[in-house]
Amino acid sequence: MSHVIAVINQKGGVGKTTTTLNLAAYLSRAGRSVLVVDADPQANATSGLQIDKHSLDYTLYDVLFKRSKLEDTIKTTNLSGLNILPSNADLAAAEIDMVGSESRELFLKRSLANASFDYVLIDCPPALGLLTVNALAAANKILIPVQAEYYALEGLSQLLASIQQVREGLNPDIMLLGVVLTMYDSRTSLSSQVKEELVKHFGDKIFNAVIPRNVRLAEAPSYGKTILEHDKWSKGARAYKHLAQEVIERAEQ
Ligand SMILES: Nc1ncnc2c1ncn2[C@@H]1O[C@H](COP(=O)(O)OP(=O)(O)OP(=O)(O)O)[C@@H](O)[C@H]1O
Ligand SMILES: [Mg+2]
Repeated sequence: MSHVIAVINQKGGVGKTTTTLNLAAYLSRAGRSVLVVDADPQANATSGLQIDKHSLDYTLYDVLFKRSKLEDTIKTTNLSGLNILPSNADLAAAEIDMVGSESRELFLKRSLANASFDYVLIDCPPALGLLTVNALAAANKILIPVQAEYYALEGLSQLLASIQQVREGLNPDIMLLGVVLTMYDSRTSLSSQVKEELVKHFGDKIFNAVIPRNVRLAEAPSYGKTILEHDKWSKGARAYKHLAQEVIERAEQ
């Protein structure tokens, strides 16, 4: 069975998409087959892999509503082993179109049932709505990126409560793979304070790999590249490589 990892945090701009894409790149570099699922109507993961959102025949939306087949919708990318189930703004209508259905939480799980990849990484939108619930129902693991900033911990208890709810109902087997600190600035004491707070809450669930604030990471998507292709010697690249090693250790042990 695939390791299906929901990359989730309802806070916006904490590094979900950056983490999804660059972790996916290094998992594929380590010889694993990887599918990125763009579950966010902003479709940043899609454009970050140099896929033109405006010229797609089919998207995740079509797969969810059985208008296209998974295998006809998945696109390969410039990196061997790295594939994407792309999205565009159409996905914004999905929550409304699902809500009347009795199995509204299970659309994504059903859509991915025949996906045969070593890893499936689901890039979630910044909300705890139906798309995110679909991701939590389809996943067997959760990865939470947390930005190293003052308000980082706000909202985490709400997120953990939602995960607990999913565990008690839809998906009893889902487990927290880990929490990764993003945009870490070693020059500020604030960053290390946030890290200490997180360790108190999450203990060894915190990944040793910490993602630094690094301009190379921020500029890579504008070239449609992952950091592995954009600047593999950058600090950001080394951090995501380390994260991929830890993910492999935890997931495959
Ligand atoms: N480690 C980093 N160093 C510098 N910039 C970063 C880093 N990680 C992310 N960014 C930048 O911060 C912004 C937000 O990152 P990203 O899009 O990955 O967050 P997100 O959680 O997916 O956002 P959203 O909630 O809108 O989907 C982007 O402009 C991204 O390029
Ligand atoms: Mg995003």
